[in-house]
This record gives sequence, structure tokens and C-alpha cells, in this order.
Amino acid sequence: MDNALLNAVKNRRSFYTIGKEKVLSDEKIVELVHHAVQYAPSAFHSQSARVLVLLGKEHEKLWENTKDVLRELVPAKQFTSTEEKINSFKNGYGSILFFEDEETVKNLQQKFPLYQQNFPIWSLQSSGMLQYSIWMMLEDAGYGASLQHYNPLIDQKVKELWGIPETWMLHAEMPFGKPLAAPESKTFLPINERVKVFSQNV
Ligand SMILES: Cc1cc2nc3c(=O)[nH]c(=O)nc-3n(C[C@H](O)[C@H](O)[C@H](O)COP(=O)(O)O)c2cc1C
Repeated sequence: MDNALLNAVKNRRSFYTIGKEKVLSDEKIVELVHHAVQYAPSAFHSQSARVLVLLGKEHEKLWENTKDVLRELVPAKQFTSTEEKINSFKNGYGSILFFEDEETVKNLQQKFPLYQQNFPIWSLQSSGMLQYSIWMMLEDAGYGASLQHYNPLIDQKVKELWGIPETWMLHAEMPFGKPLAAPESKTFLPINERVKVFSQNV
């Protein structure tokens, strides 16, 4: 199997050693994010996803502030390793923050009471689909990215720093940059234990 999409699926990895060297222009990065946000599916086409793109110094600001938040929470002895980890994200060029608009979800719950319990779940599922498509697009463009979850610890700080509406709920942070080291190899469960197939000629 060999085509660009299949390769992007396979080659998407969690890259933790990343640098600032330019791979795409800022305009191209934003174009890629626009593309993914516009075309990713959402329940009832509710388009509940919201995204914050932070590049260059704005990206560094995110991780410096994350460090400040964690410094207050992590025991001093463990903070050195926490700091090293956060610095590894800050070493990248940009971060993409994934939110879901809670107001959109609430409106759907009111409009379709039959499915009201499902909408928050579908909102998370559609955010995951968007995260995955951006992760693959970044990989395909020559970046390395990873998926981080410092929410909800940093939610308030992010809202203050970038004027994010109260209804936007942060779900994930994706730092990315030029890959500087290959990820470690990973092992896989036997695929036939995970996928069952039944087929009959029609
Ligand atoms: C829903 C979800 C949550 C994840 N959360 C984190 C996270 O908080 N921090 C992190 O470093 N990686 C996180 N990961 C990345 C996984 O650890 C990683 O995808 C997995 O180990 C497989 O490695 P690969 O991404 O290199 O294929 C998450 C992945 C998924 C799908």
C-alpha cells in the first residue's frame, strides 16, 4: 500500500524532539489549519470545533505560562523533569490548541432532546477527528507534532492571554516543529485480533 494518505497515516508519530527551523511559511500553516477545520466532520454539521494557532514567540509564551502554572502545583523536587518536558515543547515552532464551543453543544442538546446525552460525546469525537487530521497534515508537510493535555490547568491563563471566549472549552494542545530525532519504534498487537471481518459474496 503506497499513496500519500496511507503514508501520512503510517508516518504520523508523536515527535518529542523538535526544533524551530522553518518548514512552511506561517501563511501555509494557517492555510492547512483552515482546511482541516473547514472540512472535518462534526455531529449534525454543528461545526463546534474552535482552534487557536500560536506561532513563534506566541507559541513560546504558551509553554512559559504552562511552566509557571505547573511550578505552583508540582513538588519542587519533580519540577526539573517537568521543566525539561515543557521546554521540549517550547523548542518547537508552533502549537495548535483545540477547543470545542460549549454553547454550540448546549444549543444542540436543546434542539434535539432525544440525543442530549450524546452531544458532549460527539463533540469530543469530532475534536479527535480534527486533531488527527491536523496531526497527519503536519506530518505530511514535514513537521513533527505531539498531543498534550495541560488542560484544564492552563485554561484560564490561555483565555486571559489570547482573549478566548468563555464558551470555548480547551481539549488538547499540539506542539509541533521540525523533527530533530526519530521517535522510538513501537510494537503492535496482532491486527487480526483487533479487526474482525465477515464477508459474503452478494
Ligand atoms: C486521546 C489521546 C491522548 C493522548 N494524550 C497524550 C498526552 O497527554 N501526552 C503525550 O505525550 N502523548 C499523548 N498521546 C499520544 C500517545 O501517547 C501516542 O499517540 C501513542 O503512544 C502512540 O505513539 P505514536 O503517536 O508515536 O504513534 C495521546 C494520544 C491520544 C490518541
